[in-house]
Amino acid sequence: MGRVEGKVAFITGAARGQGRSHAVKLASEGADIIAVDLCHNVDSITYAMATPEDLEETARLVEKEGRRIVTVQADVRIAEQMRAAAKQGIDELGKIDIVVAQAGVAGMRGEPQVAAWSDTVDINLVGTINAVQAALPYLNEGASIIATGSTAALMDVSKKDQPGKDLGGAAYVFSKRALTHFIHDLATHLAPRGIRANVLHPTNCNTDMLQSETMYKSFRPDLEHPTRADAEPVFSVQQAMKIPYIEVEDSSNMVLFLASEESRYVTGMQMRVDGGGYLKWYDHHL
Ligand SMILES: NC(=O)c1ccc[n+]([C@@H]2O[C@H](COP(=O)([O-])OP(=O)(O)OC[C@H]3O[C@@H](n4cnc5c(N)ncnc54)[C@H](O)[C@@H]3O)[C@@H](O)[C@H]2O)c1
Repeated sequence: MGRVEGKVAFITGAARGQGRSHAVKLASEGADIIAVDLCHNVDSITYAMATPEDLEETARLVEKEGRRIVTVQADVRIAEQMRAAAKQGIDELGKIDIVVAQAGVAGMRGEPQVAAWSDTVDINLVGTINAVQAALPYLNEGASIIATGSTAALMDVSKKDQPGKDLGGAAYVFSKRALTHFIHDLATHLAPRGIRANVLHPTNCNTDMLQSETMYKSFRPDLEHPTRADAEPVFSVQQAMKIPYIEVEDSSNMVLFLASEESRYVTGMQMRVDGGGYLKWYDHHL
């Protein structure tokens, strides 16, 4: 028996990166997958989004695990598209037990700056809410909602110098912080119904979002065209452990735990997979 045997997971941002990894991990443990992704670029965001071919590759990998997958090209910013995606998944797979709302963009250095602010808030915050709300009517007792925040949400950026302080960067922090409040309150109200909601907060994760010139420049504003080699030593400033970033499997292991019955009484939590990054910011935590 897999750890999520027979469950169905609705995952946004599933074409590549952490989302693809979550899809394949959950499939390897017995879940069928509804995989949603935009599959085209966002004008104000400086690095490329996933492609339709990326989403097809996720489907291939899930099917290789012997599970079924429904792929949907849709934009989390548009509530109607999320409702249609959930409905399509339900029509083909019958139910939703797990929601992984994790499509996101890093707005740092985005242009025009006001558009980068709006797109980042719309995708990371409104998009998370849209995805969760689309699935909510179908969720029953035992269901698990997992939203992806970021350790950026937990840092007190007003006090210390942090990478990405422009409008798009500020939107990233705001959107991830607001998302934590949404999930906290949602978890409170869903607990009596036996439905759980938690936030996964990864630190730097080794995906296209991190491995982009945008991020290199955010971490190395002193250089005009910083490379991965220039940025990697500075990436480790985000963690207490001596690592530049975590791998997608590290995030997926937490998603699997939160999706499975092993965490059946875990709800309303802010789960950090951050190599101790949070510890660098706070002397104590009650
Ligand atoms: N990589 C990191 O360092 C890091 C750190 C902390 C948190 N996160 C968060 O993890 C999540 C996953 O990011 P990732 O690291 O896998 O990066 P990624 O860029 O590889 O994946 C993000 C996915 O979201 C999709 N997407 C973007 N806008 C969308 C939209 N409007 N509708 C539907 N899909 C859309 C993209 O096409 C892409 O496939 C994001 O929420 C991100 O903010 C990432």
